[in-house]
Amino acid sequence: MTRDWTPRSWREKPVRCMPDDYPDPHTLARVEGELSRLPPLVFAAETRRLTAGLAQVAEGKAFLLQGGDCAESFKEFTSDNIRDTFRLLLQMAVVLTFAGGRPVVKVGRIAGQFAKPRSSAMETVGGITLPSYRGDIINGMDFDARERTPDPRRLLMAYHQSSATLNLLRSYAQGGYADLCNLHRWTLDFVASSPQGDLYRGLADKIFQSLCFMHALHGAPAPQPGPGPVDFFTSHEALLLNYEEALTRAEPHTGGWLDTSGHMLWIGERTRQLDGGHVEFMRGIENPIGLKCGPTMEPDELLRLVDVLNPKGIPGRLTLIGRFGADKVSESLPRLMAATRKDGRPVIWSIDPMHGNTHKASNGYKTRSFDRILSEVRAFLQIASAEGVYPGGLHLEMTGQHVTECLGGSFPVSEDELSSRYHTHCDPRLNADQALQLAFMVAESLQLPHTPRARAA
Ligand code: PEP
Ligand code: CO
Repeated sequence: MTRDWTPRSWREKPVRCMPDDYPDPHTLARVEGELSRLPPLVFAAETRRLTAGLAQVAEGKAFLLQGGDCAESFKEFTSDNIRDTFRLLLQMAVVLTFAGGRPVVKVGRIAGQFAKPRSSAMETVGGITLPSYRGDIINGMDFDARERTPDPRRLLMAYHQSSATLNLLRSYAQGGYADLCNLHRWTLDFVASSPQGDLYRGLADKIFQSLCFMHALHGAPAPQPGPGPVDFFTSHEALLLNYEEALTRAEPHTGGWLDTSGHMLWIGERTRQLDGGHVEFMRGIENPIGLKCGPTMEPDELLRLVDVLNPKGIPGRLTLIGRFGADKVSESLPRLMAATRKDGRPVIWSIDPMHGNTHKASNGYKTRSFDRILSEVRAFLQIASAEGVYPGGLHLEMTGQHVTECLGGSFPVSEDELSSRYHTHCDPRLNADQALQLAFMVAESLQLPHTPRARAA
C-alpha cells in the first residue's frame, strides 16, 4: 500500500490543466458518484499482463508500440475509425515483429483519450474570449459560450463511449480478426498502391509462406483464418482526475488500487510537477504508467519523479516518453538516459516524435513535418545506442483514416493539401502510409544488436 495515499489525495495538491470552473458542482458530484458505481472498464489481470509485457520491453526483449488519436471525440465515434486504428497498429506490429525481430506490446491511445491539456485557459477569436476547448470529456469544440462551458455529463458520455470502444476492440482482438492469416486483408485501401503497401504485401507473403511451411512440417493443412487472439491494451493521459478517481477501485486480493479507466495511463508534459495533483494521483495506482519528458526536464528532477512513481523499481511499471523535438532531442536526451542508466532501476525509454515537432503551416493549419518526425526517431535510436540504453518504444498520434494532417511521406502531403482531409480534434496525426513508413524504418534499426550496458556503469 502506498503511504498516505487515497484516490482523493490529489485534491489536496495544486492541479494544472483541469477546469476549475464547473458551473454546476452538484451535477459534477452526482456524476462522480454515478461513475464510481459503474462497472470497471479494465480488469486487474489484464493490467498485470500488460505490466509483464512491459517488463519484457524494459529488458530489451520486446518493443512497445503505443498510438492512436491525439483526442478521441464524440463526433468521430464510428466502428470504422476504431477498426482502422486497430488494424494499423496490428500492421505496424507485424512489421516490427517480423522485420525487427521483437515481439510487440500493442497499446492504443484509445477508449479514454478525451481530455486535452491546453497552454492557455482562454481563447480569443474576433474580439470574443471564451474558455479553450479541453477535449470532449470537458467541453465542446465549437466556438460558442454554451459549448465551451464545462459540462459534467460529458464524463458519463466519455465512459459509455470508452466502454463501447473496448467492447469492439476486445472482439477484434479475440475473435479472429487479428489472425495472421488475415494479413493481406488488413491493407488499408489507400495504402495499397503506395511503396509502403508494396513493402507490406511482400512481408505478408513471406509470413504466410513461413506459416504454411510450419504447418506442412507438422503435417497440418495450410493455415485457415480462425480465432487468433492477440493482446491489445488501452491507454490515455490521466488528465481529468475527477474521472480517474471515480474509476479507481480497491483490489481485494492485493489491497492495492487500480484505475479501471484504461490499462495504461500517462502523465502529460504540462502536469508532471513533483508537488502537483497528477503525480500524487499516479503514484498510488497499480497500473503501468507513462511519464512525458520534454526539453525542460532535468536529470535530477527525473530521478526524483522515479523515486515517487516507481520507488521500488518494478520492471514494466514506468515508461518514460521523450518528446523533445528534432532540434532539441540531442541536447536533452543523452543526459536523461545517462541518469536513468546510472540509477539502475528499470525504466522503458520510448519516443513521442509528435509533440515537439508541431508548427503552423503558411495557410494557418497546425501541422507536423514527417521529415522532422523521422529525424527525432533516428536521433532517439542513435542516442540510445550511444548511451547503452535499449530504445524500447514508439508513441504516436496516428489514424487509419486517409487524412492529410502531417506534411510529407512517401505519398507526399503538401501544404496546399492539408485542407482536403484535415479531421483531427486536436493535433495533426500520421496517416497509415506515414505510420507504416516509420514502422519499417524503426524495424530496420531494431535488427541491429542493442545490448544494454551493465547497470550503474
Ligand atoms: C498528448 O500526448 O496528446 C500531449 C498533449 O502530449 P504532451 O503532454 O507531451 O504535450
Ligand atoms: Co497531441
